[in-house]
Amino acid sequence: MQQRSPDAWANPADIDAVMAEELCEQLEKRARFSDQIEINDALIASLHARTGQNWLEVGCGTGVLCRQLAPSLLPDGSVTGVDASGEIISQAWDRVPSDGSIPNLRLQMADGSALPFPDGTFDGVFSARLLLHVPDPVAILREMARVVSERGTLVAMEWDFDSITVDVPDRDTTRAILHWRTDNKDGNNWIGRQLYRHVMDAGWQNVVVDPRVSVAHTEQTSLVQSLRKAATGARDEGAIDALTCEAWLESLDRALESGWFFASIVYFIVRGSP
Ligand SMILES: C[S@@+](CC[C@H](N)C(=O)[O-])C[C@H]1O[C@@H](n2cnc3c(N)ncnc32)[C@H](O)[C@@H]1O
Repeated sequence: MQQRSPDAWANPADIDAVMAEELCEQLEKRARFSDQIEINDALIASLHARTGQNWLEVGCGTGVLCRQLAPSLLPDGSVTGVDASGEIISQAWDRVPSDGSIPNLRLQMADGSALPFPDGTFDGVFSARLLLHVPDPVAILREMARVVSERGTLVAMEWDFDSITVDVPDRDTTRAILHWRTDNKDGNNWIGRQLYRHVMDAGWQNVVVDPRVSVAHTEQTSLVQSLRKAATGARDEGAIDALTCEAWLESLDRALESGWFFASIVYFIVRGSP
């Protein structure tokens, strides 16, 4: 059965100003963790973007990736970020430096499945952490291929939550927590393994899948924060009991304190052409 679970990002039109601020703070906070910096760097490097090119990000959120990419396209190139939520676009504008250091960043509201650009507009089009939240990923991947130039580059990056490893002793509880989180939170967490099929379905050519293992050794990582939230979420919704949750979190603390902690998750960076 295809799993789609409660998801704050699933209905961008319903995001009001208060919710947008909260969600955007979370996105910006996540982007500051070392594991996210590493994977975002890997994604940006995989674009092979060059000065003078014009790029589009679909589902740009706060524009973290657009802001990172834009300076490398100067002086003549640009990056356009689109998002289906007008409130999120407004938050993204608030985060563009006012000192004029990123003059080539454009942000606008648009749905990824109906992009308001003519065929072949951009040298490159990418998305990241978007397709797990949408009901029809192929429609968006097709639109990405339509608006990129004939010799342009297409890139999509998604994680797969069932690819997580975490080195704590209690296997059954770890599996219970991860399976609960995969099937019950924040959209389709199997999108990573499905991405190749979706891009092929959307007609992408010359497709290369680049699986990147994101590794966490410390508390100050997005993955460890996700693991903590997964454990308490599983407890709150009855997938594990309170004592089991407490013991598991204590074992996570001990593993982190040992200095030898290891956890990982696979992100799939899929690259192709139209
Ligand atoms: C989790 S955020 C990811 C933001 C950014 N790509 C990043 O990696 O930080 C997903 C974003 O996709 C947007 N979104 C959801 N469905 C969309 C759609 N159909 N078209 C465009 N954007 C969409 C949401 O409003 C949200 O801002």
